[in-house]
Amino acid sequence: MVQPNLSDVLLRWFDDNQRDLPWRTTKEPYLIWLSEVILQQTQVAQGLPYYLNFRSQFPTVFDLAKANEQEVLKAWEGLGYYSRARNLHKTAIEVATHLEGDFPKTATGLMQLPGIGPYTANAVASICYDEKVAVVDGNVYRVLSRYFGVSLPINESSGINYFKTLSQEILPDQRIGDYNQAVMEFGALICTPKQPSCCKCPLNSSCAALANKEVINLPVKTNKVKVRKRYFNYLIYLDLERKTPLNKRLEKDIWQHLYEFPLIESNGLLGVRDMRHQVSELFKYNIQGDLSLINAKPIVQKLTHQHIFANFWLARADQINADFLSLEVFEKYPMPQLIVRFLKNFRRHL
Ligand code: ADE
Repeated sequence: MVQPNLSDVLLRWFDDNQRDLPWRTTKEPYLIWLSEVILQQTQVAQGLPYYLNFRSQFPTVFDLAKANEQEVLKAWEGLGYYSRARNLHKTAIEVATHLEGDFPKTATGLMQLPGIGPYTANAVASICYDEKVAVVDGNVYRVLSRYFGVSLPINESSGINYFKTLSQEILPDQRIGDYNQAVMEFGALICTPKQPSCCKCPLNSSCAALANKEVINLPVKTNKVKVRKRYFNYLIYLDLERKTPLNKRLEKDIWQHLYEFPLIESNGLLGVRDMRHQVSELFKYNIQGDLSLINAKPIVQKLTHQHIFANFWLARADQINADFLSLEVFEKYPMPQLIVRFLKNFRRHL
């Protein structure tokens, strides 16, 4: 039997089945770059409202460059990995001020910009300029590892290098941008992580993993992520005007430059006595009356390398503080998703 050509099949499938997405009707590098940075962070369905919002808030690279970092972080709020948003802003400033608003036209040139790695550079260069460079994301690993039956681990250099070379070798000669998007779209809609649709897959007669009943075991990822548990005790300290202090996180971590309530991190969640003690030791706050736990169960946020367990405590002050902020104002600042979720569920208790 003549083997179907993988890229031909995927392109044909893409022409018939691609979703109608707003970044598919443009080749404007600014919009493609924006969409790819967002899509690196989340799936299409979750990324779509963020893309639309960014596009209307910052229609051009000059608008994004003119914004302040806080506005950009607020628009990114909930997507996680906030260094991506800070780099998005830095790249916009670079392109607007040093490149007259024109993005570089090659993957190598794009990679000189802050936060643009091989994935984003290849996506933008292939979609906007049809440069012959392959994108490799989680979808691509899944589709190729299954189709070719490759069990090299995708989180070790052996697998990473193998798939980088393979994906480049199998690129078609034309329609590179469409092809790159076709593989990703196919991974998102047909060759999905769980319960892939092998019955309606146009490649099911030549897929190595399907023939060997290995679909569900591929791709291989070695288990080496060590998860750290962290315990956050937040204090909501309301003064007589119901205003509370707000801190900007300055540490160079995933939440750098986001805002939060005063925080005590501990080795386990604190009980009321320890919390009261720490509050007076660390913050020197005078508590008028009770210190009460607002959430009955810890609020948990699971990130790749850390699981955060958070409690929120309410205390009242008996004076007014000029540098405290009302919760209505606080909500305009970019904050970790953990706090967004807390406020959504417990705001009425404050
Ligand atoms: N995932 C990331 N970028 C994508 C794109 N352009 N199309 C489909 N899925 C994607």
